[in-house]
Amino acid sequence: MSRVAVVGTGYVGLTTAACLARLGHVVCGADVDEEKVVALARGEVSILEDELPELVAEGLASGRLGFVVGAAEAVPDAEFVFLCVPTPQGDDGGADLSHVAAVAREIAPLLAPGTVVVNKSTMPVGSTRLVERILAENGASIDEIGVASNPEFLREGTAVRDFLQPSRVVVGADVPSVAVRVSELYRGVQAPVLVTDPASAEMIKYASNAFLATKISFINAIANLCESLDADVREVALGMGYDPRIGFDFLYAGPGYGGSCFPKDTAALLHTAREAGYDFDLLDGVVTVNARQHERMVQKIRRAAGGDLSGVPVGAWGLTFKANTDDLRDSPAVTIVRRLLEEGAAVRAYDPVAGPAAVEAVPGLDVVEDPYAACAGARVLTVLTEWDELRWLDFDRVRDAMASPTVVDCRNLLDPAGLRRRGFRYEGVGR
Ligand SMILES: NC(=O)c1ccc[n+]([C@@H]2O[C@H](COP(=O)([O-])OP(=O)(O)OC[C@H]3O[C@@H](n4cnc5c(N)ncnc54)[C@H](O)[C@@H]3O)[C@@H](O)[C@H]2O)c1
Repeated sequence: MSRVAVVGTGYVGLTTAACLARLGHVVCGADVDEEKVVALARGEVSILEDELPELVAEGLASGRLGFVVGAAEAVPDAEFVFLCVPTPQGDDGGADLSHVAAVAREIAPLLAPGTVVVNKSTMPVGSTRLVERILAENGASIDEIGVASNPEFLREGTAVRDFLQPSRVVVGADVPSVAVRVSELYRGVQAPVLVTDPASAEMIKYASNAFLATKISFINAIANLCESLDADVREVALGMGYDPRIGFDFLYAGPGYGGSCFPKDTAALLHTAREAGYDFDLLDGVVTVNARQHERMVQKIRRAAGGDLSGVPVGAWGLTFKANTDDLRDSPAVTIVRRLLEEGAAVRAYDPVAGPAAVEAVPGLDVVEDPYAACAGARVLTVLTEWDELRWLDFDRVRDAMASPTVVDCRNLLDPAGLRRRGFRYEGVGR
């Protein structure tokens, strides 16, 4: 059992805190957002994440999990301090480490000898050393403090499962005993533990996300070709996926990747490459294909509306960046809806969880509380997020509610044959 402070209680920090408490550690989660801390201390979890509310409740009840405002409150007793604060995209494309630096400055004079600071946020190569330097410059006795990189690979929607049953645990540290201590926190988790140097650990995270983004852009490029050649990208992806060297995951053609990680992490890796003097045009292409894919969806919807979106009522299903999360950050659905509004469409949207947040995020968007209301009077209905519940609706009712039964399915979620039988015009992606 160790005493752990987790700084930042968002998707990654809260999952880390609750799961480490489940593993038997005594964990204090710290955040600058006072409202969030008060709610968490009452067991109220504001993000949509399977099993997380139960785990937080369990941690609070056992006394192994608590929450405080501000890192300074949490670290003095801690043997480990996990940094789980945001690392958003900076103006130059690189990761903005200002939150990380602010926390490092704040905690430096408070760290007890022997404490290990663990970089769990996604941070570019060199960040373990950077955090070490900031701690040293701000009063930490650095010979007695360890710093390690321990990147996180969880996926929103399955965060708890991914944390407790990960594909691997990666720990990067210069000092072997520091790496061993961090690895031991995961005792009880069945997964390979890769102990390596800090730069390699940091690169593993960026390389993994860039590779997954590449798979998505690759299948989208193939989908675009399939549209010209009368092939069906779903059949193609299936035929490819049976090859164990390729696999089925991330071969779903759609509107392009989004979310709080892939866009900023690909941009940050490109920035790192530029600084290192390497022309990473492969990754540049991945990013370009992705941006064009969002726009290609807008074109499909415009075409379905007869070539001009001005004044056209459009129904939109799904706003989050993928299903089973409430996260709207960098959501392709939001990008597409904004573009439709720019072109003068009257967009009425439905999302199972993110409706209220979308009202704030997208001025001018009419958000309704049920999928049928979203398509009432619409000339085009577009599916933007692959929520399972959207597959099982009454499509006769949908058809009757629409001004013209036309569907642009940016997620290939619905059954084209079934819809056509019911009198819909249907267009998907790459099929
Ligand atoms: N979301 C994911 O799926 C995911 C997966 C793997 C890695 N990551 C990485 O993890 C990091 C965190 O991502 P997230 O999605 O959890 O972010 P988030 O925005 O959900 O949470 C960050 C939290 O940090 C808090 N915070 C900011 N500054 C603080 C400070 N000075 N002291 C204390 N708390 C502070 C914020 O209030 C917020 O609650 C990022 O680097 C991200 O790239 C995210």
